[in-house]
Amino acid sequence: MSTPELVTVTVDDREIRIPKGTGLIETALACGVEIPVFCYEPRLGAPVGACRMCLCEVEGMPKLQAACTMTAQDALVLRTAQTSEKAAEGQRAILEFILLNHPLDCPDCDKGGECPLQDLTFRWGPGNTRMHFPKRTFDKPIPISPVISLDRERCILCYRCTRFSEGVAEDMQLVARNRGAQSIIATFEDEPYRAHFSGNVTELCPVGALLPATYRFRARPWEIDNVPTVCGLCPVGCNVWATTREGKVARILSRNHPEVDDGWLCDKGRFTFDHLRADDRIKQPLKRVRRRGFDPVAWEEAAEEAARGLGEAEGSVVVAFSGGETNEQAGALARLARQGLGSNAAIVPDDLDPAVDGFRAPLAAIRDAEVCVVLGDEPVVDRAPVVDLWLRAARRAGADVITIHPAGSIGVSPGSAAHVARSLAEPGTAPPEFRELADQLRDTQRVALVWSGDDHDRGRRAAALAAALGLGEGSGLYVLPRTPNGRGVSSAWRAAGEGRGEEPPEDGEIGALIVSGDEAGYDPRVARLSERARFVLTTAMFMGDHTLWSHLVLPGTSYLERDGTVVNLEGRAQRQRRAVDPPFPDELEFFAEVGERLGLPVSPRPDEPSPALQAELPPRSRPGALSEPAPPPSPNGTGPGLELVTYRSLFSGPGVERVEPLAFQRPRAELELSFADADDRGISTGDAVLVVGADGVGRELTARVNRRLRAGVVRVADEHADGFARHVEVGKV
Ligand code: SF4
Ligand code: SF4
Ligand code: FES
Repeated sequence: MSTPELVTVTVDDREIRIPKGTGLIETALACGVEIPVFCYEPRLGAPVGACRMCLCEVEGMPKLQAACTMTAQDALVLRTAQTSEKAAEGQRAILEFILLNHPLDCPDCDKGGECPLQDLTFRWGPGNTRMHFPKRTFDKPIPISPVISLDRERCILCYRCTRFSEGVAEDMQLVARNRGAQSIIATFEDEPYRAHFSGNVTELCPVGALLPATYRFRARPWEIDNVPTVCGLCPVGCNVWATTREGKVARILSRNHPEVDDGWLCDKGRFTFDHLRADDRIKQPLKRVRRRGFDPVAWEEAAEEAARGLGEAEGSVVVAFSGGETNEQAGALARLARQGLGSNAAIVPDDLDPAVDGFRAPLAAIRDAEVCVVLGDEPVVDRAPVVDLWLRAARRAGADVITIHPAGSIGVSPGSAAHVARSLAEPGTAPPEFRELADQLRDTQRVALVWSGDDHDRGRRAAALAAALGLGEGSGLYVLPRTPNGRGVSSAWRAAGEGRGEEPPEDGEIGALIVSGDEAGYDPRVARLSERARFVLTTAMFMGDHTLWSHLVLPGTSYLERDGTVVNLEGRAQRQRRAVDPPFPDELEFFAEVGERLGLPVSPRPDEPSPALQAELPPRSRPGALSEPAPPPSPNGTGPGLELVTYRSLFSGPGVERVEPLAFQRPRAELELSFADADDRGISTGDAVLVVGADGVGRELTARVNRRLRAGVVRVADEHADGFARHVEVGKV
């Protein structure tokens, strides 16, 4: 990298040498001078100079200049409002102008106390108003979605929200309507703002115009605590503040980690916290007393019962992890099972081959890549949402983003990721498009390889591909786990015994099954094992299919109620802090109690750093080449009817399902069809279609034609795919 050219800039008589092209706002900050801003936000792209709050005097220029639109040049002399009366007068005038129509309702505005406009008015604004006429008013609040309210009269037209919608999330749903004094912010055609990242505009808005509806009139700034923690709802591990008031979580805000999330959160992470207070949350241990019924029991009785059930299992114990546990919870459970109960079998989601760590890079490296390749059938935005934003940022920065899946820029059959990886690694006999791509990747210095799917042995296959392509510094491999802490849980399990251990037995009775967390139930093996287990112990926040066979159900905690560490998809260990106390002893305490009764000590608090934290970064090495061939791509088009591919929507899971304002985000009962298949059947978007599986199960869904989807494939969210077989017949109703 070439050394940047340094230039000399003077800000309020302080001279600084700084790289040429640095923004003047940052240059002034480096001199210890703050220039007030509203519209300026570097994460939104090029400055727009909309608010004029940053007016400064630049030597040699007759008029005041918007500092946010200028960059450091040699011999530039800048005077801010701190030393220039002209700049100070300009800023006062701008604030007076902004406040012309802005209501003075800080005492009951939810932004009050945390509001840049309020703060800057106090610091820089006129002490009084000269305006004695009615201000502009609108109906309020306008619910632009169930989670966001717009108080339009407070808007200062900084365009941060529309720039986010257009230039970061690229959902294009927020627009500025009309011109001049009539300009207003609205959603496109007044439709609800339904997008994965909509909540970010409530943090970007520098006034109380866009606010989370879920926080409206819930708290005042002097009543709250902001606890720094890490979101535990997907493998990105965004850094967040959990705002608490009177022991309850009231809001989630971003705590910008520039390498992980760049300050953006998805709506699941931002709005799901209310599930902690769901009416049907399990609050005390439940013991099965009848075939289909449970009775609440005291904690002591539950611990006794658990010790009895596990003790009588005589080593035949299987642990089904959800991948949502902290490293410490998973470690305690793993030690109890492997070292105490003599068991070696577990369901460990996301047990990725450690070779992937050889190609670790921060998520931010995706933005700097020259070529990004996305493999796998699961939509990245549903599995690890913020990764989608990094990919968009890469594309805007000029990267080639190549997606290879049934709806990708290279359309392939469902389940082809492993085969494609093999073709790219050994392109000798591969189809021409993969040979060309393999050549391009080998000639590219900065490559981001993203694998989004549950393909068999994907960690090892992905690492083998990365090695074959010679991915070096500046490149990164990102195998997206299915669960939030799948990587940490699998290292905790491995560290407690000898490596991976065993797969759960395929048949026969087992002594005991421990189902750890609601999401463990998503693995179909859990239901099958439950039926064969003499004793099933489940920790869960809610009752559901995963508790159907349980003999003992313990209340589970949320990530907002835990202290511990987690490992995100990059392999980065991060600290989760308890924002609120769980209303009962947490899982660690319970298993410590059970261990004590069995004479197997399990520390209720981690007394040594978790194995994931101790792990050293392995070198970028070549894992052994894959000797066995990749599975062939699925023969779509040759089976009867259309091949069904399903995916897990971001807005699914027991937590989201209990947050009523997020109901509008849940996946619609839609079937995506390719243009060719829709055309063949005379189907258009919005038509009702009957989808019939090979087993004769039929269901009516709404059609959505997806021009990117490969012919012969239809796609539907898991929620609406119940009972469908791999191939379906589709017809217009
Ligand atoms: S709604 Fe907020 S973010 Fe959007 S333009 Fe108005 S003040 Fe700016
Ligand atoms: S992207 Fe993942 S980690 Fe980040 S806020 Fe959303 S669910 Fe949480
Ligand atoms: S911050 Fe410079 S014009 Fe808005």
